[in-house]
Amino acid sequence: MKRFFLENYGCQMNVYDTEGMERLLIESGYARTDAPETADVLLVNTCSVREHAEERALNRLAELTRLKDQRPEVVVGVTGCMAQRMGKDIKRRLPRIDLVVGSQALPAVLEGIDEAEKARARGGKHKPYIGPQTLDHYLPPPIARTGEPRLKGFVTIIRGCNKSCAYCIVPTTRGPEVSRTPEEIVAEVQELVAAGAVEVMLLGQNVNSYEAGGVDFPELLHRVGAVRGLRRLRFTTSHPRDMNRDVVQRMGTAPRLQPWLHLPVQSGSTRVLAEMNRDYSLAHYLDVVDAARAAIEDLSLTTDIIVGFPGETGEDFEETLRLLERVRYDTLYGFKYSPRSGTAAASREDVVPADEKQRRLAALLEVQKRISHERNQRFLGRTLEVLIEGRDAKRGNWLGKSGHNKTVILPDGPHAVGGFVAARIERAEGLTLYGTALGRAAE
Ligand code: 5AD
Ligand code: SF4
Repeated sequence: MKRFFLENYGCQMNVYDTEGMERLLIESGYARTDAPETADVLLVNTCSVREHAEERALNRLAELTRLKDQRPEVVVGVTGCMAQRMGKDIKRRLPRIDLVVGSQALPAVLEGIDEAEKARARGGKHKPYIGPQTLDHYLPPPIARTGEPRLKGFVTIIRGCNKSCAYCIVPTTRGPEVSRTPEEIVAEVQELVAAGAVEVMLLGQNVNSYEAGGVDFPELLHRVGAVRGLRRLRFTTSHPRDMNRDVVQRMGTAPRLQPWLHLPVQSGSTRVLAEMNRDYSLAHYLDVVDAARAAIEDLSLTTDIIVGFPGETGEDFEETLRLLERVRYDTLYGFKYSPRSGTAAASREDVVPADEKQRRLAALLEVQKRISHERNQRFLGRTLEVLIEGRDAKRGNWLGKSGHNKTVILPDGPHAVGGFVAARIERAEGLTLYGTALGRAAE
């Protein structure tokens, strides 16, 4: 039996796509391996969001193509956003690559492997298979792939992005928005639950623009939350522009929805937000935050921030720091701006120097570290429902997650992965909570 090795970079939607490709390959008779040396087909599903992500994938691919020195028959391919963005130009960076299949044409990976093998057999000059720009059908959903029990599942509900944030390559790599039907989504969630999943995360670049057959995102949340057997419902990512008090109110009452919201702000300066083409003011963002906190009890709030966008002044950055103090996020993901060719901001000359970007990122993370720690103290002495997700064998601890998406560490005890326990929180540090189990959590 032929084996494939498939490695993923990038966001949760890429994880979902990777699992879909795994299913496709397994159903075509391949077996999975985690050891590249034993694989006949090696694939890297890539991300283009920042240059760093692309460099990492390119280095990894260069390393994998070196396996061809010993075994010239192996097929090495690049899939996903970087393949979509660069297409055949990727040959310049990876002259020995055998196939290039972009995120909008992933099912072509099978044909690509086939063609690459045929080309190899024919001999002659090396010419990689370059997949189509787009396909009008998508990968099958990943769920049925192995039958192995799973605790959590991702479900992509909307593909692509119709926004045009000045820094972002995603609308190019992922293409325009396409919502899946609510029936398809609910069926997939039901199947996941039947396979043992207790938690589902709905995915989209912008879940709030979901619309299919008159069903909008809040309505979809209600439908998915009502699936029997599902215990936890999450989603990511929301766009503040497409949220308002009414939408947030309707979202907040969905059954099984967990008190966690990832709401990327990108900058605390309305001027920079306008230049980023985010299409909302800071005042609107804060209004959505207030509405979310009113609608969802004890909400845990996280965000993404870009520092050093072209033209960002010291004063703009100070506004971002003030925003952190005002909103008091539970945690955040901070990024140095990375120019992506083809985006509106890439041609700007008023760049922030690299060392200044680094300084701002460090300052941002420093402020947030303190706030995260302070925010976590609110859990002290409280009893939280914890989903047991794994065991730290070395320390003999159990690791779980609260509904707020906080890691909770419990001392050894008669727990099992997939179980829900009620735990009293005794210590709160940085991003982690430490507790003792009081017993099984009620349904
Ligand atoms: N440079 C830096 N960060 C970026 N992001 C998206 N594009 C870029 C870029 N060009 C960040 C945004 C987004 C997250 C997924 O990645 O903060 O929310
Ligand atoms: Fe990376 Fe964006 Fe593509 Fe996800 S959609 S893999 S974050 S470029």
